Amino acid sequence: MKILSHLLIAFLLFSSCQNSNNQHSAQTNEFEHGAVVAAHPLASDVGVQILKEGGNAIDAAIAVQFALAVVYPNAGNIGGGGFMLYRSHDGNVDALDFREKAPEKSDKDMYLDADGNAITDLSLYGQLAAGVPGTVAGMVAAHEKYGSMDWKALVAPAIKLAKEGFQITSMQAAEFNKHQELFSKLNVDGAAIIRSEAWKEGDVFQQPELASTLERVANEGRDGFYKGETADHIVKEMQRGNGIMSKADLENYQAVWRKPVEGMYRGHRVISMPPPSSGGAALIALLQSVELYPLTDWGFQSDSAVRVIVEAERRVYADRATHMGDPDFHRVPMKELMDNDRNKARMKAINFAKATPSSEVLASKFAGYESEETTHYCIVDKEGNAVSLTTTLNGAYGAGVWVKGAGFLLNNEMDDFSVKPGVPNLYGLVGGKANAIAPNKRMLSSMTPTIVEKEGKLFMVVGTPGGSTIITSVFQTITNVIDYGMNAQESVSASRFHHQWLPDQIDVEDAAIKADTRKSLEQAGYKFHERGNIGRVENIIVLPNGKLQTGADPRGDDVARGY
Ligand code: DON
Repeated sequence: MKILSHLLIAFLLFSSCQNSNNQHSAQTNEFEHGAVVAAHPLASDVGVQILKEGGNAIDAAIAVQFALAVVYPNAGNIGGGGFMLYRSHDGNVDALDFREKAPEKSDKDMYLDADGNAITDLSLYGQLAAGVPGTVAGMVAAHEKYGSMDWKALVAPAIKLAKEGFQITSMQAAEFNKHQELFSKLNVDGAAIIRSEAWKEGDVFQQPELASTLERVANEGRDGFYKGETADHIVKEMQRGNGIMSKADLENYQAVWRKPVEGMYRGHRVISMPPPSSGGAALIALLQSVELYPLTDWGFQSDSAVRVIVEAERRVYADRATHMGDPDFHRVPMKELMDNDRNKARMKAINFAKATPSSEVLASKFAGYESEETTHYCIVDKEGNAVSLTTTLNGAYGAGVWVKGAGFLLNNEMDDFSVKPGVPNLYGLVGGKANAIAPNKRMLSSMTPTIVEKEGKLFMVVGTPGGSTIITSVFQTITNVIDYGMNAQESVSASRFHHQWLPDQIDVEDAAIKADTRKSLEQAGYKFHERGNIGRVENIIVLPNGKLQTGADPRGDDVARGY
């Protein structure tokens, strides 16, 4: 019974990451000055408003992050974390890591029972699942380094939305209703989202406690979250359950500026997120692996293209599982993982007649080396500064716990660690020592906020949620544009597929890979696994005339706005 209820909860957490609506229009938009593509129309509106008021892309990104925490509670957050990639109009690139970290009292075996078996529900639900949130520290750091507008003005739109409420979309009403049982179970004293009658489209969702927390953040900056009343609420919430996060954990949290990773693909410079996200290195390794093959001539999702992409994916994800973790705790062999020659050479071994079983693909050994829910948004401002930002609570609605009195959700990011070698996490990913739990360590991520340059100029700003599928979705979107000539909207609307080494199967959206192609691939030993939507990709392409062409994923309520 317990297992069944856990399976149900896992399904709910995971499935609402996938979402279900393909009915939205797929029209591409073009804007002259600035554009914002985000998962909720009101968040996109807030971003454009800031751009129109003269804010730059970073100002808009901060305002959108706080707005999403209000209008998109399944992933927008102040109780989670994320990664931001930035490119200034004159080509300076920077990466901000505001990933959650393990609390000081955490331990590598904290989710194991007395017999050493993993109790994965503990890393997914309730107070113990939460890592120390990084979002507010991240936004403050971004503002200090690149912001131009008054901090309070950037938090103000979110406060207004939380206080006055906003009308929920039909997709949101369905999601809120689907999760009521879980929310009631984990929040016995209630929360703004919990109510007895069913939510419906157009209902107004007000969050007074969240409004007060945001007011403290507006007035006191990072101290409004990591100290004082908000910190008190968080620590009390820990005591209501089995949590271990302390005041010191909160006070000591720091966002970190890191050097982006980069590589070349068919003459384009691809810039992305370094560890503790695996996303950038894995994306670049994938692009390097397929570059010698004539994807354009073979055609979109053709038999040969799928074979090559899947064989590349299984090899890259095997390396990810073994070698990647928080670089402050574990030496990640970045040079080797993104070695163009190595990645191309190992593809030579693939057999076009037969799938390589994943059991035969082991992570590379390097000499001298020891070993829904997330959301993405893209912004380009009138100067050409660009932000690609992915932010998350991990599973949909994170740990499912609203911090009482503070009105925001805690993440369940601890599940992104490898709780035990070989035990799959929510996304089926396995890992080992590199991504084992340790106090103050950041859990490995797949988030892949990415920016692509062409001939030294900004060309594309792209990213997506989707757990382990993030990397392959960003990869496909890039090839959709560069190899298959799709516009921004087509590139995100196109169907997607995914392979991650283990389990040894190709996950496919309904519309992905035509039936006859699937048949011939099955004959060669490939297994297919039908699933719901993969990712919610956002994309902005800078056209040769300087206009901003946008793609908002029709799988969600995602909307592109601009001016
Ligand atoms: O950091 C990661 O890779 C995961 N926590 C991301 C989770 C995610 O994308 C969920 N969205 N559907």
